[in-house]
Amino acid sequence: MTADAVPASPPTADRVVIFDTTLRDGEQSPGASMNLEEKLRLARVLEELGVDVIEAGFPIASNGDFEAVRAIAGQARRSTIAGLARAQRKDIDRCAEALAPAERKRIHTFISTSPLHMKYKLQMEPAKVLAAVSESVAYARSLVEDVEWSAEDGSRTEHDFLCRCVEAAIRAGATTINIPDTVGYGVPEEYGALFSMLRNRVPNIDQAILSVHCHNDLGLAVANSLAGVQSGARQIECTINGLGERAGNAALEEIVMALRTRHDKLPFITGIRTEAIMNASRLVSAITGFVVQPNKAIVGANAFAHESGIHQDGMLKHAGTYEIMTPESVGLVRAAADRGGLVMGKHSGRAAFRARLADLGYALDDTAVDETFRRFKELADKKKEIFDEDLIALVDDQIGHAEDTIQFVSLDVRAGSRAPQRAELVLLIDGEERATSATGNGPVDAIFNAIKALYPHDARLDLYQVHAVTAGTDAQAEVSVRLEEQDRGAVGRGADSDTLVASCRAYVHALNKLLVKRGRAAPGL
Ligand code: KIV
Ligand code: ZN
Repeated sequence: MTADAVPASPPTADRVVIFDTTLRDGEQSPGASMNLEEKLRLARVLEELGVDVIEAGFPIASNGDFEAVRAIAGQARRSTIAGLARAQRKDIDRCAEALAPAERKRIHTFISTSPLHMKYKLQMEPAKVLAAVSESVAYARSLVEDVEWSAEDGSRTEHDFLCRCVEAAIRAGATTINIPDTVGYGVPEEYGALFSMLRNRVPNIDQAILSVHCHNDLGLAVANSLAGVQSGARQIECTINGLGERAGNAALEEIVMALRTRHDKLPFITGIRTEAIMNASRLVSAITGFVVQPNKAIVGANAFAHESGIHQDGMLKHAGTYEIMTPESVGLVRAAADRGGLVMGKHSGRAAFRARLADLGYALDDTAVDETFRRFKELADKKKEIFDEDLIALVDDQIGHAEDTIQFVSLDVRAGSRAPQRAELVLLIDGEERATSATGNGPVDAIFNAIKALYPHDARLDLYQVHAVTAGTDAQAEVSVRLEEQDRGAVGRGADSDTLVASCRAYVHALNKLLVKRGRAAPGL
């Protein structure tokens, strides 16, 4: 057996493989697209978190996806890297090519099996689908030893047909069989029973690991995933913060903490270092611009906050009165938890700064550390307390822009109650400094009009969101801007202690990402 057939930590009877698909199914969420540098950073953080399998992308979908899977495959050390492929040779070839640099690699091939999908989406007879299952898995298996097969819309598939497909996939060499609840329609008892049914009826079922993959349309993705595990599944597919199409996928942090906290009822273990959960959550939120709702389980800002007097009183007497898990167990430092995770201050040195950035998944060269450290010191002069969120916002705003076509130089704004509001903007466009002044219906409109005047474009502003990175009036503002053009979209972020400067940087960032996408556009699916 070669190295790529061996999962990072082989599952035992009670060991559950964690398969993270934030970079693939998560990224499919509208507006959540990430660039190469962001994907590499997230992949490093996922490895630190202890994820067994990282699904890095769908290589045939675009050149960008292909490059990202290849780069992540080259960087990975411990985790298995998976790529998605439809049941077609050209997809599987492209996937294998992208995965080539990985020490541990998995081809994940899928086809729809439900009557609805076969008839309307694939327009294929069941017999043809069954043949495609065997052919695609056998072909993938001729290229790598670790092959996962998924029955798309598996939870709405007729049982007899599902059994025949699963048996065929295993016979053709699939090592993992995934039964997705693609449309989030299942309920726990029924979804769990599906796995019991497969284990009872498919003769070669013990030759593969069974996997759950649940979407959250009815808010049941985590409950369904756990029901599947209780019925014999030993791999869970999930995403950080539950990122994913529509209502998202099952949230990794909720599943892992449920298994850990209720080990009495759910006697399964994972290889996840739960103390790294907050890091991963913050990074995904920062990269995508998707703010985590305050009352979100495990990673929401209020998940460990105790506001009411009765609760505070109980907590002071014994933490167990209202706390079923500790903030430390998910990576919040208790002393700092109430203040949002203070980590750095004005007197922190370069070594501590660099170490903290490494924890947050940044691998910066010396020049980038110098540049970001200088901005960190400037920020620390304005703001007493520097939090992880500040560092993420600051570094994201600073790094990776050297190659940008459009670069921010300076901004002066006349705001206030007397119209018209006016923006005086200087940008560096293709290395040439250009200046203009524009008015608008408010200062943000004036800034965006000035950008349009300097770099004319048709992209539509789809989202403008301001988020205070931390508490306090001296907090940095982090602005997310989403621009849409034809079928392309890009999220840009900007951070600054001045909200208007942050807005301008965010718009320019999104525009640069859109320009890269224009250049990379490849025939879609
Ligand atoms: O939800 C789904 O069915 C999927 C498959 C491609 C695995 O994401
Ligand atoms: Zn999915």
